[in-house]
Amino acid sequence: MKAKAVARANIALAKYWGKSDDALNLPAVPSVSLTLDPLITETSVTFDEALQSDAFVLDGEPARAGEAARVTALLDEVRAAAGLDARARVVSVNRFPTAAGLASSASGFAALSAAASKAAGLDEPLEALSARARRASASAARSIWGGIVALDAGVPGDDALSARPVAPADHWDLRVVVAITATGRKPIGSRAAMAESRSSSPYYRAWVESCEALAPEIEQALRDRDFDALAPRVEQSFFAMHAVAMAGRPSVLYWQAGSVAAIHRIRQLRADGVRVCATMDAGPHVKAICAAEAVDQVREALAATEGVSDTLVATIGPGVEVEA
Ligand code: PMV
Repeated sequence: MKAKAVARANIALAKYWGKSDDALNLPAVPSVSLTLDPLITETSVTFDEALQSDAFVLDGEPARAGEAARVTALLDEVRAAAGLDARARVVSVNRFPTAAGLASSASGFAALSAAASKAAGLDEPLEALSARARRASASAARSIWGGIVALDAGVPGDDALSARPVAPADHWDLRVVVAITATGRKPIGSRAAMAESRSSSPYYRAWVESCEALAPEIEQALRDRDFDALAPRVEQSFFAMHAVAMAGRPSVLYWQAGSVAAIHRIRQLRADGVRVCATMDAGPHVKAICAAEAVDQVREALAATEGVSDTLVATIGPGVEVEA
């Protein structure tokens, strides 16, 4: 009744932003990501008849109520599938480099989905683990696989939607340099911010329509290892996502001065012939996607950029790993 799983964070190159079905947590747009090493979450799940309620410890502390509720919702699905009643003890540790300030919900819910399934004695395919992780956090559906991974837009009511693998981790030796531009919690989480975009941003409909073509183009550029095709599309995807959020009411602005400086630095490097492009998630940090041979130059340039307090380098990593 016990199992442990390890999963990694991922970075979307074609962004997901907005839902087509809130209850089932289905994305309104297709997305494509890279699974990242060494941004790892390790989660163990123990079902125990003696427990009165689920207990969730995150990085050594009892989790906050909202997080605990999402964990229990996922565990309830596993209990229903396995015909189990027992409550569970969940211990989760983010092995992220310190001060990274990076989102861990994708690696966290992917690891939880896999560990809970195994601990409950289920023998489920990766698609089932991915669909269950998706209901907790859509980006988590992608962290079930390593390498390049896509999550298609959800058709309202289609609860089976899972991510799908596009290419394995060794398909293309890209690196991701993260430029840390702020500390502390971000102003608003992705779930609330994307709901606001849908209800109040005049650009939301255009965003959803534009992703239909943009995400498959990004997927194809990755399959073809075509950096010249990839770079402008990756930047268009994140700029468009942030533009939608900024144009909402109230407007959502994740950028700090250091974010803007880092973006300019990356674009200058590209203009100088370096194979690098920028992306940002729902937070202030900037991620530079670059060819392996450019990684030292990109890291040095970003470390020397005003407003960037730290940098870290990630490579493309494997999917979820489960131990009994
Ligand atoms: O899955 P969530 O609710 O953490 O949302 C993730 C949204 C972005 O990180 C901004 C984009 C993405 O596709 O990962």
